[in-house]
Amino acid sequence: MKQLTNMNVQVVSDKQAGGQAGFKVFEQALANGAKVLGLATGSTPVTIYEQLVASDLDFSQLTSVNLDEYVGLTADHPQSYHYFMQQHLFNAKPFANSYVPDGTNADAAAETKRYDAIIKENPIDLQLLGLGQNGHIGFNEPGTDPESTTHKVALTESTIAANARFFDNADEVPRFAYSMGVGSILKAKQILIVAYGEAKAAAVAAMIQGPVTPDVPASYLQTHPNVTVILDEAAASQLD
Ligand code: GLP
Repeated sequence: MKQLTNMNVQVVSDKQAGGQAGFKVFEQALANGAKVLGLATGSTPVTIYEQLVASDLDFSQLTSVNLDEYVGLTADHPQSYHYFMQQHLFNAKPFANSYVPDGTNADAAAETKRYDAIIKENPIDLQLLGLGQNGHIGFNEPGTDPESTTHKVALTESTIAANARFFDNADEVPRFAYSMGVGSILKAKQILIVAYGEAKAAAVAAMIQGPVTPDVPASYLQTHPNVTVILDEAAASQLD
């Protein structure tokens, strides 16, 4: 464990160790009385969810609020974030209430307002985040207003390309998503962000050591008082 910034940065050997380290953050948050967990998708959180599923932690009295969802995908689409959460966590560990933006709601103004009301009613105790290669968090792409709330996002070409691996081809990747805003994320009491691999190294360095700038949405985490960062050595390789 190294203290590089005001963030608590932990460098682990691999994703499995990252899963265990991330699990401990969840375990501690629950022991401290956390009632609302902000959850994330992508490949990064999978080993944490594996540890949560294998544990005896009980989420049946808790609420979960997910970061984002593709616009246009139904909850049962295998690449929807609803489906991901069912497969990786909720089927094994149901929550009292689980919220994910509704990608099938074509009325963006109504959906983003609905989701903001959910977040307001369920203030997030611990927010889990992955990191995009371009420094995005949730689907908050570079240029996002740091005070943003839930909004409809046009995905960047680099995000579409990065996520194409989950689809048959890049044409099938949705072009829009609903995402909690940077401002919504920063309201969480505690934040855990995890990144693995060389492809994330530049974004990790910019997040922790670069200027706080809309060009790197994750850099706003420098302004939050309680952030834990879990990295493998490759993701940490561009840190001083
Ligand atoms: C997507 C998600 C993000 C996630 C990012 C990184 O864009 N919206 O929440 O952090 O991908 O994904 P991965 O963990 O697979 O690298």
